[in-house]
Amino acid sequence: MSNYKIAVIPGDGIGPEVVQEGIKVLNKITELDQTLQFEYTYFPWGCEYYTKNGVMMDSDGMDKLKNFDAIFLGAVGYPGVPDHISLWDLLLKIRKGFDQYINIRPIKLIKGAVCPLKNVNNDDVDILFIRENSEGEYAGAGDWLFKGLDNEVVLQTGVFSRKGTERVIRYAFETAIRERKSLTSISKGNALNYSMVFWDQVFEEISKEYPEVKTATYLVDAAAMLMISNPKRFEVVVTSNLFGDILTDLGAALAGGIGLAAGANINPEKTYPSMFEPIHGSAPDIAGKGVANPLAAIWSASQLLDFLGFEKYGKLVLNAIEELLVEGKGLTPDMNGTATTSEVGDRIAEIIHSLVTLKA
Ligand code: NAD
Ligand code: IPM
Ligand code: MN
Repeated sequence: MSNYKIAVIPGDGIGPEVVQEGIKVLNKITELDQTLQFEYTYFPWGCEYYTKNGVMMDSDGMDKLKNFDAIFLGAVGYPGVPDHISLWDLLLKIRKGFDQYINIRPIKLIKGAVCPLKNVNNDDVDILFIRENSEGEYAGAGDWLFKGLDNEVVLQTGVFSRKGTERVIRYAFETAIRERKSLTSISKGNALNYSMVFWDQVFEEISKEYPEVKTATYLVDAAAMLMISNPKRFEVVVTSNLFGDILTDLGAALAGGIGLAAGANINPEKTYPSMFEPIHGSAPDIAGKGVANPLAAIWSASQLLDFLGFEKYGKLVLNAIEELLVEGKGLTPDMNGTATTSEVGDRIAEIIHSLVTLKA
């Protein structure tokens, strides 16, 4: 019997709605394999909690989370609480506090997903983004001088440490080797004359340790263009925190929409728990209506299964998503369907059930 403790942070807006479906799918897996068990502990943290208690999470929140095997999160942020407070005091606090320095975001056009580009095959869009997730443009370093005065000055300092840059690039090379793929670094050394010149130099240095990996480097503006005009050029990609944030929303649009895009925040050393979440936000515009697409959260549940060593089940969940998309019905409105969030979760659980029983 394998028993895992999962911390669940549904968060704000559509977060709780999509998380519920992710859990539904995990429960289906444990129903089918009774040697596997998940024990969930829910944490009510988020903007509503902030409105009542003045904090986004308990002051000992990180202590409470640190012994879990994984964290499953919905989304954070809601009108009424400034975004820089809600995100810095919960989501970013966990990513940084638990040194989840690798953010893995698959941009994969699975069968049945609709790509807005013309003449694109499924295997033309299969990019594994490895986004630096602990520092860079998101280091939170800076100052706000002479606030409100005519000479007001704001500084936002990018922080690229040698350790932080080397470790993410090395992780990307290891991934490329394992997957037998090329590795592309995306940076901006022409304008960011310290940080990105350094990034490029480290990429070049580390590439010498991995002569068998085919590499490319692009400036981020050109990379954005090429992701649209020739997405096939990209296999494994490594990039900085901000560039990775922006390009993976672009990638989400390429691979079937933001309602499908998942991400894993990984602490490779497993000193701390890793965290799994859809890459979308709390979508206040559709929250509470029961129409949010839960597939991104379900895909991140599949990443969670992979991470815990149950790749077989991670793949099964992904196959079920693919089958649902190929069926082309029972989808939420963002995918031109009329299904509700929970109907999608129910159908995925059903498909998983039939995939397993058919095999048996
Ligand atoms: P968003 O991702 O919440 O929404 C962008 C658009 O995509 C909206 O039109 C929304 O309705 C749609 N959308 C997003 N997820 C969807 C889903 N599952 N199904 C159907 N449609 C979906 O981004 P935003 O509007 O820029 O941000 C809203 C809030 O979320 C802000 O507070 C922001 O800071 C926060 N945010 C949080 C996270 C996170 O917790 N990881 C990520 C991004 C944004
Ligand atoms: C994401 C989000 C976050 C990020 C925000 C909410 C801080 O956009 O996970 O992509 O930029 O990392
Ligand atoms: Mn984002």
